[in-house]
Amino acid sequence: MTTESDTVETWNTYGNHQLTRGLELPELDRWDWGIPGTGPGIEVLGDMAGLRVLDLGSGLGRHAAHLAARGADVTAVDASPAQHQRALARYPDTPGLHLVCADAVAHLRDADPYDLVYSVGSMPYLDPDRLLPVLANGLAPGGRLLFSALHTNSDGTGPSAELMPRPEILRLPGTTEDHPVNMWVLTPQLWEDLLVQHGLRMEAVTTIDSPKPDNHVSYRLYAARHLQRVPSPTLLRSGSRDELRNALTREWLADKPSRPWILFVADRSAALLSLCRIESERAWIKRMFASVSDYAEYRALIEYYTAEGAVLEARRRRVRNALVHGNPASFAIVDSVREYATFLSGSALNLGLGSYVEGTVPATALAKRTDEFNAMQAGQDAASHWRDQLAGSAATTTPPS
Ligand SMILES: C[S@@+](CC[C@H](N)C(=O)[O-])C[C@H]1O[C@@H](n2cnc3c(N)ncnc32)[C@H](O)[C@@H]1O
Repeated sequence: MTTESDTVETWNTYGNHQLTRGLELPELDRWDWGIPGTGPGIEVLGDMAGLRVLDLGSGLGRHAAHLAARGADVTAVDASPAQHQRALARYPDTPGLHLVCADAVAHLRDADPYDLVYSVGSMPYLDPDRLLPVLANGLAPGGRLLFSALHTNSDGTGPSAELMPRPEILRLPGTTEDHPVNMWVLTPQLWEDLLVQHGLRMEAVTTIDSPKPDNHVSYRLYAARHLQRVPSPTLLRSGSRDELRNALTREWLADKPSRPWILFVADRSAALLSLCRIESERAWIKRMFASVSDYAEYRALIEYYTAEGAVLEARRRRVRNALVHGNPASFAIVDSVREYATFLSGSALNLGLGSYVEGTVPATALAKRTDEFNAMQAGQDAASHWRDQLAGSAATTTPPS
């Protein structure tokens, strides 16, 4: 089995072969993601003008040049010197196009975040465990990732549900010379799990089958988005634990829940946590869950955020100045202020609980300081407070005569 660097070496052989052949390929008249003339085209990318874009594994660079001509600021990265040389020879001094010869992982580690990262057929040559952590950091919040990946090869061998590479064949054009290359040919479910683990939400998976009935080749086009905070249903792992996931999701999203949200979290926190599929978020979520029924944990969190708040308040002013006066504010600062705002607005959720128990309009509850707030200031945890409230409201309800 070959390694990733052997695979790049094979692509270098391919690039040198194409340089020697000197064959002039035409510019793209249609954008394809895997099979010529089949499947979605450039329209899935939307309006590109003014966006910072990365073409990952760009080869000859025709896709990247096409987008640069549409007003995007495109960096085209390829690890093979020969492929890079082909691109340089073809697109010297092209406005909006930056050709870089580097391993895509090394490039993403140092680059400023992109609005869009796309890859036409190259992602499966890189180990997802190496690529995805830097890819998540290399995408701006809300930024998109679109990539096509082999799903079934010409022999009819389908994708793997395990995170393992396998050898596939790369034939040098115009010859019968075959070279093995290492590829991660994965099921859509595994791609989705991997993306979610790195804070990206899968938005669409499109099948691209060969139009020839006797050809098994099939690709998938994946469209994902980098999220600031991953929403709760995305946190839950499915697969073998579908039943638990469905039961919890049903209860969580019910129109008429059997109990307030905070009590649901307090009672089912271990089950919810067992489904959490984002390793990097697990510690944070565990703490939040614990703080619902453990007052000491709640106080520790509040103290942490209060201390952070002083720093963040100063940062908030800097961001405001940046917006009003055009002073520069770095990406990290904007990001931390956004997180703080999310934390503060979270308390509004608790106000909704008051109206649930009392049967009042949520807007009225929002207008006053909550009983829960007062109870927690006085040393009671949230779950005990709401259990007392429910017990109290049940005791005062007069049964119909
Ligand atoms: C199938 S070609 C796709 C080229 C181009 N996207 C296209 O559609 O014409 C795969 C490309 O990925 C590049 N590649 C493989 N591993 C890479 C890595 N670790 N970093 C950057 N590029 C890589 C190869 O050199 C090769 O040019």
